[in-house]
Amino acid sequence: MLHSRQVSLIKRIFAHIDAGTTDLSASVGLNPVQAYFSSAHQSLENEHLFRRRGLLVGLTCRLQAPGDYVVDDLSGTSLLLVRTPSGRINAFLNVCRHRGAPLVQECGRGAKSFVCPYHAWSYDVEGLPRQLSPRGAFPGLSPSDRRLARVPVTEANGLIWVHPYADVVQPVDLQGLESEIDAYALGSLFHYETRRLCRQMNWKIVVETFLENTHFPFLHGDTIASLFIPGLGVFEAFGEHCMIVYPRKTIHALRGQPEATWNLLDHSVVIYVLFPNSLLIWQRDHLEVWRVFPDPSGNPAMCRAEASIYSPSLADNPKARGHWDRNMELLLRTVDGEDFPLAEGIQRGLSSGAQSHLTFGRHEPALIHYHAQLNKVLTMREDEPIPKSSRAFPATEIKSRESVRNFDSC
Ligand code: FES
Ligand SMILES: [Fe+2]
Repeated sequence: MLHSRQVSLIKRIFAHIDAGTTDLSASVGLNPVQAYFSSAHQSLENEHLFRRRGLLVGLTCRLQAPGDYVVDDLSGTSLLLVRTPSGRINAFLNVCRHRGAPLVQECGRGAKSFVCPYHAWSYDVEGLPRQLSPRGAFPGLSPSDRRLARVPVTEANGLIWVHPYADVVQPVDLQGLESEIDAYALGSLFHYETRRLCRQMNWKIVVETFLENTHFPFLHGDTIASLFIPGLGVFEAFGEHCMIVYPRKTIHALRGQPEATWNLLDHSVVIYVLFPNSLLIWQRDHLEVWRVFPDPSGNPAMCRAEASIYSPSLADNPKARGHWDRNMELLLRTVDGEDFPLAEGIQRGLSSGAQSHLTFGRHEPALIHYHAQLNKVLTMREDEPIPKSSRAFPATEIKSRESVRNFDSC
């Protein structure tokens, strides 16, 4: 984030602290509970959110050098991405063209070819089999008839996106976030670790987990709550995407200091929602990336998520690894140990008949914005039947800079 932006956000935060306020949306948001367990709604989401858009794979540093490769099957479709000697990224369906075996099982480095574990067909990084073996067994077929199936892939702003279901590459539109993201120099980070979490809840609840901080004192009292100014969040929309900042209590130390020395990133958590299913979370000295998909089984009450930590330098010694291990442990203890068990309980209660809608307060502008964008995408499909229950979310105007007394300042 550019320094001028950091200064402006810090001023907004100080104004909120002094007034005992937080950013608010214009009105309350209502979200129909069927959006979390209806199979019809899930089908719509699959079609319009996941099949027609670029999907984030991760940071470009996952594929730093020629021969680096990544296998990504979080969405349920296994993809193989590899950096070629020319510096380009190739993406393929990770399916052998002989009899369909998964070609590559794990991520790695330095590949010049990929050998299928079933009958040892060997493919180069352009997806071309060296030969269809055994020799003479496939008359009339040449290796070029059995290339790996290509998937459109784009690389921009330090991020890698794939378009597994598109015939042509659709540019991913960050809608004003480009320069903000560029300032983090994501391409210079190092992937430390990724953990996968398969949980019994709708995929959207994973995103919702991060979109307000008023639950910190109640749910995270033993982990992170004491670090943050309770109930204070600064929100900005970037088209479908958005940003929310939760200031740490240490931000008070900047008062009285020259603005030129102010650093928001040292004194807050900055969360970017890359619509619809990814989050970039800047945590002082590193980046967390979350991606979530509906479970490939089609059950709307199940999802698959991945949390990754990217570090500013290569963790090539025990001290550095210990540091990032502790960060991952705190992340999982907080989110998987505290948020997700409660979230699974929410999922179980959604179909109980207790209520027709979930209610988002004005102090939860990111939640309201996120669901307004989802609703916009799903309801603009006039050519398809939309479940009536999916139409209820209001297209709420966000007044992100409005300040109304909302919490007791600390
Ligand atoms: S399925 Fe891959 S070589 Fe036979
Ligand atoms: Fe939480």
